[in-house]
Formats: sequence, structure tokens, C-alpha cells
Amino acid sequence: MNVFVPGGAGYIGSHTCVELIQAGHQVIIADDLSNSSADVPQRIKTITGTAPIFYQVDVCNKEKVREIFKAHHIDAVIHFAGYKAVGESCRIPAKYYRNNIDSALTVLEVMEEFGCKKFVFSSSATVYGPMNPVPYNEEMPAQVATNPYGWTKLMIEQILRDYAAAHPDFSAILLRYFNPIGAHSSGLLGDDPNGIPNNLMPYVARVAAGILPQLTVYGGDYDTPDGTCLRDYLHVVDLAKGHLKAIDYAMNHTGAEAINLGTGNGVSVLELIHAFQNATGVKVPYVIGARRDGDLAKCWANAEKAKKLLGWSADMTIEEMCRDTWNFTQKVSQK
Ligand code: UD1
Repeated sequence: MNVFVPGGAGYIGSHTCVELIQAGHQVIIADDLSNSSADVPQRIKTITGTAPIFYQVDVCNKEKVREIFKAHHIDAVIHFAGYKAVGESCRIPAKYYRNNIDSALTVLEVMEEFGCKKFVFSSSATVYGPMNPVPYNEEMPAQVATNPYGWTKLMIEQILRDYAAAHPDFSAILLRYFNPIGAHSSGLLGDDPNGIPNNLMPYVARVAAGILPQLTVYGGDYDTPDGTCLRDYLHVVDLAKGHLKAIDYAMNHTGAEAINLGTGNGVSVLELIHAFQNATGVKVPYVIGARRDGDLAKCWANAEKAKKLLGWSADMTIEEMCRDTWNFTQKVSQK
């Protein structure tokens, strides 16, 4: 199949492109490189032996997206393009609403023009908001986000539901990711955020590499076994494989379907730090600090629906996630 991947040069997108190519699909990436590296298409080729078709394009530009659809018969879209920094979304909300919603709508409208009916969307566990109890399942109400980034995910989910209701032959698969970490085992692809990382794993990796002096654990007094927050960390390669299953599923599906992609297990911040130290032999100095605004004590998936509908489950261990992150960090910091 020809799969169009807006945002395919990013962290999750690039790993998904590798899996798509390895499964025999033709991959057409559009990415404006605003938060990714121009080397990524070449790295995907080094891993897979096949270069993805790459357009340096902002998918909010409808004419450019049309040109891509004119040049290639697109069978399905996996839409990753969007800004994802929670803190920045609170400071500059209009930037997030404009870009994330505009890019999704533009791609959707061009899909309609060209008769493409399969849309896999990169959503987030953040849509479960602060009110639902863990483990989250897809039947729970996803109605309130805690930040503009989360609202864009909720709003795009709603747009796709409405669109699917109006077009009975359309399929939208809303993949709700939990906490993807890790990197490709080659060390060529991984999470390499600009500036000081907001997310835990890239921060841990930079402390381990000596780039940052120490980690602050946000809160040690939560109602959890060791007092630190619990999250459902999954390996980005497992997550990428979930997308492969999702496009296969979409081919014989109509309507809108939300599906969690997580392991179903909660792991604490301290457990993750210790797993990293064990897997790499490198010490990660840390202090326990104040809670971070907006953090939930507990967040993990009920992962049954993905197993049942997609035949997918996340298999890689926390140690593998840590080892692959460290391998990637060492390669990046040697550049
Ligand atoms: C965050 C977002 C979530 C988004 C996801 C994307 C918030 C509140 N949530 O999830 O909406 O979908 O990223 O990747 O930002 N931690 C530390 N020290 C650090 C960094 C993090 O202790 O320096 C802790 C946090 O308190 C949390 C855990 O590590 O308990 C994971 O944090 P993070 O990686 O930022 O992910 P989430 O907050 O779960």
C-alpha cells in the first residue's frame, strides 16, 4: 500500500515508517522539519535499505498536500504532524490550535478530494483527562483535557468522529498512546528534543550522558507505592508496530474507533530510574522535588482492545527501552 505519513520524520513517525517499509509498504513522508532532523529519511534508508519518498512540506499548505496526492495514489494516511510540548501549548495556545487542527483538517479535506478513506490518527492518553480512574479503557468519557495540546487531540478525535458519521465508508482509527520511550536498536532514530527535555526519558538520558547535572523527580508524596507517579511506558518500536496493525485493520473497517496503545502496566519514576541504571550501568543523579502542575498520580492503559481488534500487544521490557535509549543517546552525543 501507499501510505502518506505527515510528520513522518518525528520520533514516533520515523519508527513507524521503518516498520511500514519493512512490511512492504511504500511510504510518502511530508514533514516541515520544525521538530525533526533532515537526516531522518536517510537514516530510515540505512535501516531498511529503502528510501521513503520525502517532501519537506507543512501539511497546513493545502496546495502542497494536493500536489502530493496528485503525484501518488494514497491508500491510507497515518497523521503524526503536530506540535506536542504541553508546557509550550499553555504559553502559546493559538499556535497549537492553529497548527494541530489546521494540519489534520487540511489532510482530511485533501483525502476527501482524492477519495482516500483510511485515516489513522496519533492521539494520546491525555484525552482521558483527570477524572477517569486507571486503568483507562476506551469506553470511558474522554471529554476534558488539562492543556491546549490535549484539547487539540480531543478536538481532532471529535472532528474524525463527525467526519466518519457523515461518510459511512470512512475509517478513522484514533490511537491513544501512553508513554512511548526507547529508540531504534540501530541507534539511528530516537527522541532528540531541542533544548531542555520536558519528558522524563530524554531528561534521564541527558543526565546519564553528563549533559544535564541531575534529574528532578516531580513529587515524592503521591498516593502510589513509592510516592512517585506511575506511567505506562512502552517501547517506541512496539508502538510503531501498532500503527502497522492499525492500517491493516482500517482496510476492512468503517467508522471511528479509539484504541489504547500501552502495556497495561504502571511503572513509577523511581522504578524507571533504577531500571535505566541497571540496564546501562550508568548512574543517574536525582533529587525529589515539588510536584509538576497538571501531573496525574496514575496513568496506564487497559490494553485489551488493541489485543482483541488489532492482535497487538507491547512486548518489549523496560530494560530494553532503557538500553535502546542509551544506545541512541550515546550515538547522538558523539556527533
Ligand atoms: C506528558 C504530557 C502528556 C503527553 C506526553 C507526550 C504532561 C502533564 N503530560 O505525559 O499530555 O501526551 O507527555 O509525551 O506534560 N518527570 C519527572 N521529572 C522530569 C520529567 C518528568 O519526575 O524531569 C515525571 C513526571 O512527573 C511524570 C513522569 O515523569 O510522572 C512522566 O513524565 P513525562 O515524560 O513528561 O510524561 P507525562 O507527563 O506522562
